[in-house]
Amino acid sequence: MAKKAAKSNGSSTAPATAATPSEVAALAVCARHGNKPDELLEIFHELQHQLGYVPEATLPVISKALNRSRAEVYGVLTFYHEFRRHPAGKHVVKICRAEACQSMGTDALCDHAERSLRTKLGGTTSDGAVTIEQVFCLGNCALSPAIMVGEKLYGKVDPKRFDEIIGSLEKEAAE
Ligand code: FES
Repeated sequence: MAKKAAKSNGSSTAPATAATPSEVAALAVCARHGNKPDELLEIFHELQHQLGYVPEATLPVISKALNRSRAEVYGVLTFYHEFRRHPAGKHVVKICRAEACQSMGTDALCDHAERSLRTKLGGTTSDGAVTIEQVFCLGNCALSPAIMVGEKLYGKVDPKRFDEIIGSLEKEAAE
């Protein structure tokens, strides 16, 4: 009798096992969410909160734990800008690109930030000091364009002010 071909979605039916601390963390987070596939976004958020980013090495264990294909899990991770796939720099600078900030010149501000820091949005400076990320509304629309550095919010940020803010971070690091 011919064997039936097993249907595969890219994941295995074997239980997920973890070897590294980030894989252990990923499995624990999945377990806290009952290994529910529809809680994948919450799982990524929690993992990023815990590790600072979502290491790609955790995707195979997450896919196994949730019984979703790796491609599906990877697709979700890369679709949402708020998930980091690499460790962030010492300072994370979030630049708002939502409507109010758009109308007040955030595109020019982003271009300036990328040029002056020599990295793209989502990237980190070569010295690991600053990561720049785009976000969509910081709740500071009346003072657009807005940015956030760590937990501190800044409004009406033009390229000159941006440079001053970054300069103060560098100064602070040198002290
Ligand atoms: S649109 Fe930028 S802070 Fe709200």
